[in-house]
Amino acid sequence: MKNPALLLLICGTAWTAPALMPLPAHVSLGEGKLTIDSSFSAHISGYSDRRLEAAVARLTAKISRQTGVPFTGGEKSALVIECREGGAEYPSVDEDESYRLEVTRGAAHLSAATVTGALRGMETFSQLIAADADSFSVPAIDIQDRPRFPWRGLLVDVARHWMPIPVIERNLDAMAAVKLNVFHWHLSDDQGFRVESKVFPKLHQLGSDGHFYTHADVRRVVDYARGRGIRVVPEFDVPGHTTSWLVGYPELASAPGPFHIERKWGIFEPTLDPTREEVYTFLDGFVGEMASLFPDEYFHIGGDEVLDREWRDNSAIQAFCKKNGFKNSGELHAYFNRRLQAVLRKHGKKMIGWDEVLSPGLAAGTVIQSWRGQQSLAEAARKGYRGILSYGYYLDHMDSATFHYKVDPLSGQASQLTSDQAARILGGEACMWSEYVTEETVDSRLWPRAAVVAERLWSPASATDIESMYARLEITSRWLDWSGVQHRSGYPRMLERIAGGPTNPALQLLAETVEAQGIGGRQDSRQYRSDIPLNRFVDAARPESESVRCVSETLARALADPAQHRQEIDELRRVFNEWSGNHARLRPWISRSFLLREVAPLSEDLSRAGTIGLKALQYLESGERAPAQWLAEQTAEMTRMEQPRAEVVLAAARPVKTLLDAVSKASLGAGQAPKTGSRGNDK
Ligand code: ACM
Repeated sequence: MKNPALLLLICGTAWTAPALMPLPAHVSLGEGKLTIDSSFSAHISGYSDRRLEAAVARLTAKISRQTGVPFTGGEKSALVIECREGGAEYPSVDEDESYRLEVTRGAAHLSAATVTGALRGMETFSQLIAADADSFSVPAIDIQDRPRFPWRGLLVDVARHWMPIPVIERNLDAMAAVKLNVFHWHLSDDQGFRVESKVFPKLHQLGSDGHFYTHADVRRVVDYARGRGIRVVPEFDVPGHTTSWLVGYPELASAPGPFHIERKWGIFEPTLDPTREEVYTFLDGFVGEMASLFPDEYFHIGGDEVLDREWRDNSAIQAFCKKNGFKNSGELHAYFNRRLQAVLRKHGKKMIGWDEVLSPGLAAGTVIQSWRGQQSLAEAARKGYRGILSYGYYLDHMDSATFHYKVDPLSGQASQLTSDQAARILGGEACMWSEYVTEETVDSRLWPRAAVVAERLWSPASATDIESMYARLEITSRWLDWSGVQHRSGYPRMLERIAGGPTNPALQLLAETVEAQGIGGRQDSRQYRSDIPLNRFVDAARPESESVRCVSETLARALADPAQHRQEIDELRRVFNEWSGNHARLRPWISRSFLLREVAPLSEDLSRAGTIGLKALQYLESGERAPAQWLAEQTAEMTRMEQPRAEVVLAAARPVKTLLDAVSKASLGAGQAPKTGSRGNDK
């Protein structure tokens, strides 16, 4: 696996070990393989139920899609699935998800204590299928697997941008593929209230612009998720983030209305009034209705980012605080949480809230979701509460897979916890806030990076090898296509729309060498609102450039020992040449489309970076000393190019800057750069 010749291929396709993500707890490779051909079939042995039967039918259909092989149902069964029992009717946080998968030349055997365990093992089986020189096959292997953490979630915000049911369902399939088991459905916020309420119909009628899930929709999603061993935790964020509630029910507010659905992004002042009994009567009716729709034992009440201006400006609220001895708004918020907790308890629900809800008097059993830092997770665990981590897992920030992979729920302050305290940390959730994400782009912001969070939460803590992670991620990303998510397939269509014409290879190449900025890089640059289209180059661009990462890896090997890595140097020359000529190919298109105009400076810079890279490569190869002034000027150019424009970063600048640094060091060393033999420059 460490063979450098092979590594060159990994940034394309070839990885010799099974490309499993998340990595199983124990893997032992055997000899030989199990061929997957049209005679393949899967059978249940022993315990069976409708959920298991449906899952086996889905697995067979998925393998058929994955391989293109129609299964004719041969005599012999290739995969036997054996469960001890069904497990809980609705998945629970302490469900046994373990499984064992044994594959030999003749057959595969999957055994699990519960149907949920079997579901996890079936995904592993599907992920093991690859084409070899003769056929599709699964390697002989013995896998014994179970999750490190029981709560492995994904939050999707459907309030800022509406996400229709097919988007939710295909992402549930992708979640199941990488063994995520909690769908955290962020259903209300200032910009939208997204569930039909029969008890308080003005919530969805006036608060949603017509984009809401009916009760039948919710039941369908819950059932779809249950079939895949995924819990659905609804979030209704209170007492802040509630503008959309107040459009129909202004009497719940802390300040006079009227209220309108919020169109901008940010944190807003409208807030429920925690001092009025009618608010708790309303919440009682509302939670009662939602509790019967959502079977999960947990109910997320939000509780984050509560602005208290309306509380401070309201004399009745201030009088209430004085009478009850509340010294500040935090104590009023804590009072609200305690009252709400009693409502949840009445309806059989346990409370989960963002880390702002951590305050004295919270009932035991509350789950704290840390988003502002790891410290609150540790603090919650020390105080006896259970917790999950989301800090470091905000996928809408568009950080790299490496960044997210390095965040561990038991690191930071949590590493100081006793084992009893650490056991209260249930896992974590990746978050996809949707200010800058639409139903068209959400898949490409979630995948493949959510898979590395899934691995962090499922696999042993010792799974930390970045090189292995990327090699497997690249393959997993392609495999996820078969689950139906459109993170790869939706992108060329968006580029065609931007170009206003057929597939444009020069635009595609440019898009593959940039990285989209996340919420932090977008919120200040223009006045975004919910009615501004997200159809720009930045929206088509992906969070992390796979092709530039490959260039950087190739460069790292070349720099380690140029004389031994001629193949890498040739590859770099090919890439820099391509970059160098790209702007000439794209230029004729740029003025034809208004959506393309903003990419002109980026396109020019990509070509400039390619030209600088070629020259630097020439110095590296020849051992000739680069003039100091040239080095200084080009380094300044690359520093300039690294600045975001059009809300994307030109990732291609990174390896060229690294190469210049290396040439600079070699030149300072008085012409001691290693020679690889003079091949000249292609240009
Ligand atoms: C949050 O990101 N406000 C939970």
